Amino acid sequence: MLNAISTTTNFIQNKISFVPEVGIILGTGLGGLVQEINIKHTIAYSEIPNFPESTVEGHSGKLIFGELGGKNVVAMQGRFHYYEGYNMKQVTFPVRVMKQLGVQHLFVSNASGGVNAGFEIGDLMIINDHINFFPEHPLNGKNNAELGPRFPDMSEAYDKKLIALAKKVAAANAIKVQEGVYLGLSGPTFETPAEYRMIKIMGADAVGMSTVPEIIVARHMNIPCFAMSIITDLGVDGKIVEVTHQDVQEVAAQSEKKMTLIIKQMMQEL
Ligand code: HPA
Repeated sequence: MLNAISTTTNFIQNKISFVPEVGIILGTGLGGLVQEINIKHTIAYSEIPNFPESTVEGHSGKLIFGELGGKNVVAMQGRFHYYEGYNMKQVTFPVRVMKQLGVQHLFVSNASGGVNAGFEIGDLMIINDHINFFPEHPLNGKNNAELGPRFPDMSEAYDKKLIALAKKVAAANAIKVQEGVYLGLSGPTFETPAEYRMIKIMGADAVGMSTVPEIIVARHMNIPCFAMSIITDLGVDGKIVEVTHQDVQEVAAQSEKKMTLIIKQMMQEL
């Protein structure tokens, strides 16, 4: 894998001379942050060696390099999901490359279903911990000690200082934020009412189909992480209704301005 990471990193570095300090992974319906980036370079995933082929409908993903809130960032517009058929090494490969490119912080966004009865549709939730419920672990197999330890610590998967900063920025802008545990599972089905109940009992506040693999791999490499969810639907007894991908995208698009503002201001204070 080290060879593949260097090949891809070299390809990018030969194409552009730009050292990103912050990596950003943008979730479903959350590409709007890109409009705030002063873009210097864009590279389509299809051009990048070892990047998996995107199965995302309509548009193919790209890596965007530029400046946001005074920081050099690399943003993934479109991520790789396990349910698309990629294995976990493929899903998390871009995070490996980001680290080699120089990234020192990882920011991740996603859309998720709320199982906390206090949540409302459209809420932002700062992820303060996660439960890994995916059927495959991204660090399964022989460990490469040059990347990180065999048994990585996960006692602070989500950086406490970044969480405090996010809360400060949200309060300063009168943006309501929830905070809680994200349970990641494979999808692509949304949950049955019984599954939402189980997820709540297990200790989660929200559930989604991403983020956990990328955070695990970033923590393997000791990168401090911050992640935020937009609650696009509710898996709460009495409030469960049919949910479609379109609903998820629409709610995400509505709440994304608030999230973009928080992330941009966090960049300024990093
Ligand atoms: N479940 C899983 N993933 C999701 C959901 C959900 O309810 N909403 C958005 N992504």
